[in-house]
Amino acid sequence: MKTKNKLTIIYILLMSTCTSSQTNQTFPNSFKFGVASSAYQVEGGWNLGGKGESIWDRLTHSKPKKIKDRSNADISCDSYHKVLEDVQLLKDLDVDFYKFSISWPRILPTGHVNNINSDGIRYYNELIDELIANGIRPVATMFHWDLPQLLQEKGGWLNEKAVLAFEEYANLLFSMYGNRVRDWITFDDPGRFCFDPYYQQTSFADGLKEDGNVGYLCAHAILKSHATVYRLYNFNYRERQHGRIGISFGSTWMEPGVRGESDDDISELAMQLELGWFAHPIFSRIGDYPKMVSDQIDYFTRQIQTSSFIIPEFESADVEFLRGSSDFFGLTHYTTKICDSSQSKFSAEGTPLFGMDFCGQNEQWENGTSPWLQVVPWGIRKLLNWIKKEYDNPEVFITANGFSDDGSDNDCRRVHYINSYLEHILAAIYKDNCNVSAYTVWSFLDSFQWYQGYTEKFGLYNVDFNALERTRTAKLSSMVYTNIIKQRKIDWDYSPEGYKMCKWGLSTNGTA
Ligand SMILES: *[C@@H]1O[C@H](CO)[C@@H](O)[C@H](O)[C@H]1NC(C)=O
Ligand SMILES: *[C@@H]1O[C@H](CO)[C@@H](O)[C@H](O)[C@H]1NC(C)=O
Ligand SMILES: *[C@@H]1O[C@H](CO)[C@@H](O)[C@H](O)[C@H]1NC(C)=O
Repeated sequence: MKTKNKLTIIYILLMSTCTSSQTNQTFPNSFKFGVASSAYQVEGGWNLGGKGESIWDRLTHSKPKKIKDRSNADISCDSYHKVLEDVQLLKDLDVDFYKFSISWPRILPTGHVNNINSDGIRYYNELIDELIANGIRPVATMFHWDLPQLLQEKGGWLNEKAVLAFEEYANLLFSMYGNRVRDWITFDDPGRFCFDPYYQQTSFADGLKEDGNVGYLCAHAILKSHATVYRLYNFNYRERQHGRIGISFGSTWMEPGVRGESDDDISELAMQLELGWFAHPIFSRIGDYPKMVSDQIDYFTRQIQTSSFIIPEFESADVEFLRGSSDFFGLTHYTTKICDSSQSKFSAEGTPLFGMDFCGQNEQWENGTSPWLQVVPWGIRKLLNWIKKEYDNPEVFITANGFSDDGSDNDCRRVHYINSYLEHILAAIYKDNCNVSAYTVWSFLDSFQWYQGYTEKFGLYNVDFNALERTRTAKLSSMVYTNIIKQRKIDWDYSPEGYKMCKWGLSTNGTA
């Protein structure tokens, strides 16, 4: 035997010894895979069948310059007319579930239950029935940012009436769809919409806006509203419908920089600001807002010496009401930032949330088309571990994770993103015992990406927005995702016919 061969054998032996300590590459039997969309982003039919106006209809129509390509989602993917086709594509994907959102103004044009739009009820009945007929579990989000315009004009989430209206809307959804929908998500990423300048500009009194605490008041209303709907489900529906109800939070992982303890502290504060503010009241043992953050905000308000910056507080009955009010931890995650204590400061102008001022990007990290999206696969493992430690290992349902590019069908960079994030999720499951039960790719189709219009593409399917038929085309990533679901394994070498083979090089962007 030649030396080279001997070395090869030794190498193989060594590798197989190492493999035993490697992560198990097979997803647990109970692990579920899905894809997501949201109503405003895909449905179109913005004024069809009696649908009411949402704040996104109003924004895109009245202030088109706010949208990067001045587009809107009047038609978008036209999913309003394409239930059968979309469900067929979902079936092709072989997903376990589809996370979609219900458009509040499609069901209730004025926001209130005294005016139910039967065509809205019909539309989601069709979608839900078609999903179930094809063996796909419907995961329904009640609110994915498209507030009825009429409610916005009365103060939006800062008006108690919106909270009451949401409870009535949720009650209607349970009574209409709860016999078939077993997985509910009340709100998707409230951190994002509560602290979005648009919601702040139009919903609230000017005095409040200037002091920047509007986002906190909105968050307060959303958290209470979520818990109210959770209790409503427990009280009136759970026993009959046997479903689950949760909330989904968006979070970046805030990686400490290189300065030792002070960077660790600042990264922890950034995590508590971005995720803890929302999650602590519901998922921690003691409930309420995280004290670390309240203290910082107190400090901040004294610094800028503003009298009207009042952070809402929970009464003790509320603390109990919120604590434990979710059957799973919905997590939306895309990227990581690096936190540098030497930059640490609160901005006196902005809202002191999200740690924007002391956590930022790393130039070494690969970028997506979205300027905020850097590819940092190990970040999700650290985030999952943070959640495990902080909230006693709750069941985590990953409600969105995905990559933006320019829309090519040979989307090797998206494949790389999904494969490598899933690898780190496996490590979190098998090596760290994190309780992760499901993974959702954002997104099912290329769609209207809010302020970015159609300039950033996240879909597993390409949509031709210039064609009347809004033709869908499978991208490479859809094939790869299906293969993962079928094999229950990541296969970096998988290369379906009709697509160029991806080259995984040092730069790992797959385009070589
Ligand atoms: C890997 O995980 C799968 C699914 O949980 C399990 O069936 C299999 O036995 C595991 N393999 C090893 C080597 O632990
Ligand atoms: C990512 O984008 C930033 C900002 O445009 C740039 O400075 C950085 O070099 C990019 N990173 C890579 C790896 O290309
Ligand atoms: C994960 O969470 C579910 C639901 O709470 C629970 O039934 C299960 O035992 C948990 N698994 C682990 C490994 O903690």
